Amino acid sequence: MTETGIPELLLTHRGNPLMLVSAEGLEASEICLSDGYAVRRMYRSSYDDTWTQPWGENKTVRDNHRELAVEMENQEGADMTLRIRAYDDGIGFRYEYSTDFDSLTVISEKTHIRFMEDGTSWSIPGNFETYELDTREQPVSSTETANTPFTFKTGDTYGSIHEAALYDFPEMNLYRSDSLVFRAELAPRPDGIKARIPGKFTTPWRTVQIADKAVGLINSSLILNLNEPSEIEDCSWIKPQKYVGVWWGMHLGTQTWTSDSRHGATTENALKHIDFAAANNIEGVLFEGWNKGWENWGGSQSFDYCEPAEDFDLERIAAYAAEKGVSLWMHNETGGSIFEYEAAMDSAFARYRELGVHVLKTGYAGGMPDNIRHHSQRAVQHYQKVVEKAAGYQIMIDAHEPIKETGIRRTWPNMMTREGAKGMEWNAWSKGNSSEYLCTIPFVRLLGGPMDYTPGVFDIYYERAVKDPGRKAWNGDNSQCYIKTTLARQIANWVILYSPLQMACDLIENYEGHPAFRFFRDFDADCDWSEALAGEPGDYIVVVRKAGDRFFLGAGTNAEARTVTVGLDFLDPGVKYAAEIYADDPNAPEICQPDGTRAPDKTAYILSTKEVSSSDTLSIAMSADGGQAIVFKPVK
Ligand code: NOJ
Ligand code: CA
Repeated sequence: MTETGIPELLLTHRGNPLMLVSAEGLEASEICLSDGYAVRRMYRSSYDDTWTQPWGENKTVRDNHRELAVEMENQEGADMTLRIRAYDDGIGFRYEYSTDFDSLTVISEKTHIRFMEDGTSWSIPGNFETYELDTREQPVSSTETANTPFTFKTGDTYGSIHEAALYDFPEMNLYRSDSLVFRAELAPRPDGIKARIPGKFTTPWRTVQIADKAVGLINSSLILNLNEPSEIEDCSWIKPQKYVGVWWGMHLGTQTWTSDSRHGATTENALKHIDFAAANNIEGVLFEGWNKGWENWGGSQSFDYCEPAEDFDLERIAAYAAEKGVSLWMHNETGGSIFEYEAAMDSAFARYRELGVHVLKTGYAGGMPDNIRHHSQRAVQHYQKVVEKAAGYQIMIDAHEPIKETGIRRTWPNMMTREGAKGMEWNAWSKGNSSEYLCTIPFVRLLGGPMDYTPGVFDIYYERAVKDPGRKAWNGDNSQCYIKTTLARQIANWVILYSPLQMACDLIENYEGHPAFRFFRDFDADCDWSEALAGEPGDYIVVVRKAGDRFFLGAGTNAEARTVTVGLDFLDPGVKYAAEIYADDPNAPEICQPDGTRAPDKTAYILSTKEVSSSDTLSIAMSADGGQAIVFKPVK
């Protein structure tokens, strides 16, 4: 405690001081909440148990922590318990307030974090509207604002600052207030205040993950451990899925969401996709543009969440999907119109239930009404309403333009995946996502939770689209766009970028007959166990996941070619495996890329098979911007 009654936490790792946290809590206009505290009581406890989840990187998770609850009171009569949990892989702390007021006006959060020394950091800039921003690698001390997860390396320690269990409260960004000091900055409401909260209120956890190796951050379950157990008792309807859909064509500009001559979501196209999914061991299909209202997207939009487009025979398509055992997804782009959507949800979800639909992709591409920011308290409440309402109708959610993931999937396991970073779409109409970016997000964005990146473009140079004379740029000039990573890397991303709803996003024509599509047929979105084996933010990453008796490995590098050697001791001992290896072709010919540069052909790959066991090591050779994907199948 400081002389003015402010609690402070000194975080050390292996005896080295890492950061000093000034736990000043919230500033409210009705009563002083942030200082003048005296400790009334302290409770210590410890906890060690394992729990299971219906899906996740790991189905079984150990929660082993010690807790200190410091009960305090200040001169104005505010009670505050500072609850701190210490794990081997980091800490979480939160403020639990109790006042006599019915409600409080939160002006700011006063938590400060002082780094003990400078280091390197990886993050996106602070922003309360979007996470679709490029990641930056820069000194901690030159980061002016950052969103979380904010990943850093100081001395020999890797760490990441984030939050857990974000409910009824705005998101937190970090703003630098002095050379190595950051303060928590909350997303404001339209009137400038940060939040209205009840007089008794518990904040989200403020978290710091810590690890010796960068991959330790990925292998940590701290964020999930700081969330409450599932509120959904019967989770039998919640199932990870692979999916394909009518989607990429719109981003490429060869199809439209609107019901015109280029409409993608036609009955004919839908039936074709269902057949493709059924024939390729793919559980789900998504049809964007299936409903009415797209003509006004971005303007005075008014989407109809029940009425299908004229050329989309919803009843017939739903019946056909059911007959083929394929899960029909729904898509609700709201354009940000959250009030309208809240009013429509019940009838829409009831209709989807009638149709046997269990998965819904939502979208908020557009400003919210009345200057409500996408990451503010009202928006957080909205996203949560959707999750809870959907749970009541047995619907899983894949949210785009979402609020960031803070581990609520543990409590609401129907909150499957979300976007919340630059996804594949950016490759269709902008300079796109670099291989370095793809080596960074596993250590930053994905520490929060799963991401619907929508990987897997095989037609890397968009040859089919380029040949289409009717292609119309949809979101800026796309004539020089292409995928900045190799085909083997596109496959590896299905493993690296964890999502329980995992898309093969290319046009299905580009998969038909392609030998490398075997990987996706074999792949299982429902894994039991995962481990990030090796990697450095921005440089490279190797991840392995087990599903049933198979293992899937995905590796990726940045613009540097590299070979990474990994031990295969994760394989079950005493079992021989056929390793089917999808690798970059080291002799790929140099060709002219659509942007005029010359580089090796990114579509060149080699598929080979090798027998291995848990005592072997494997050298994973990757070309610049490349990767490698491996399926390990037990030899019976
Ligand atoms: C943005 C989403 O990220 C993308 O997946 C979707 O296709 C468009 N909005 C239209 O809803
Ligand atoms: Ca998006």
